[in-house]
Amino acid sequence: MLTANWPKAVKIVEVGPRDGLQNEKTTLSTEVKAKLIELLADAGTKVVEAGAFVSPKWVPQMADTAQVLAAMDKRKGVTYPVLVPNEKGLELAIANDADEIAVFTAASNTFNQKNTNATIDESFERLAPVMERAIAHGLRVRGYVSCVASCPFEGEIDPAVVASVTRRLLDLGAYEVSLGDTIGVGTPVKIERMLDAVLAVASADELAMHFHDTYGQALANIMVGLNKGIAVIDSSVGGLGGCPYAPGAGGNVATEDVLYMLHGCGVSTGIDLAKTVDTARWISNQLGRDVASRVGRAWK
Ligand code: HMG
Ligand code: MG
Repeated sequence: MLTANWPKAVKIVEVGPRDGLQNEKTTLSTEVKAKLIELLADAGTKVVEAGAFVSPKWVPQMADTAQVLAAMDKRKGVTYPVLVPNEKGLELAIANDADEIAVFTAASNTFNQKNTNATIDESFERLAPVMERAIAHGLRVRGYVSCVASCPFEGEIDPAVVASVTRRLLDLGAYEVSLGDTIGVGTPVKIERMLDAVLAVASADELAMHFHDTYGQALANIMVGLNKGIAVIDSSVGGLGGCPYAPGAGGNVATEDVLYMLHGCGVSTGIDLAKTVDTARWISNQLGRDVASRVGRAWK
């Protein structure tokens, strides 16, 4: 059977409030961002990425992350990671009572330069002390690798580089590494090649899939990872998002599209699909646009 090797349950990491909103032209109020996070948690989502302590000059949409964390009502049993690029970000995460941080680097030097002003090696020099301090402080650290399939500046990316960057993040104490097809150009065969390289140095339960859906390949690519036992999927309600430093990047795979496929294949997520669709419609309305996802449009 198609799903014979799939996990029976999948953890969804909702990245809409961060990856989604960081790239929207409309800047939403702190109250709307906080409400979005609450609605997602109320739908049963157990991990909601709440914002980013990055330079407001680089990503102005995330400048009020501290205020969002203060404004939102935290739900019991839900984790709210925040992105942290450096020591300053960690200080802000600690000062604002974040319970988990996510650090990010890439499998492309050029992309990493454009996104964080550092090569891959420089990013590790910057992140190693941040991760050590975060862990010593009791914070869990999630890692991201961008450009796992292709880079908007360098083109094809060697799966061996993705594997090596993933391993380095795990060795520094990341409990999970999320593999980002940042510009959403991967196809199932390309993703399989990349995952095989990564799975030679990491186990499936240390990995997450973070696929943008620019070319409509994300669900097909997710099936490849499910077949290999990867049970964590990053997605964004309403298919919001992109990356401000990745020209051409479309939104993340939509949470409601992922839930529809998983639930329809007998895989549980603990998340209410109808409530997620309501949230997708509500946030799209706040942004003054139509819902980007197929399920968000079709659901009755
Ligand atoms: P830099 O310019 O080299 O840093 O940027 P700097 O240390 O020289 O600082 C410049 C200014 O920013 C200073 O302010 C700092 O205080 C301030 P000034 O003195 O000029 O007024 N600053 C900060 N402010 C608040 N929080 C901080 C912080 N750090 C410095 N943490 C830096 C280097 C890493 C800071 C910058 O490049 C940056 O913030 N980059 C983040 C870009 C970003 O957020 N991109 C999107 C997230 S990644 C993504 O979307 C991909 C992902 O989804 C996976 C995938 O899809 O592949 C995760
Ligand atoms: Mg992303």
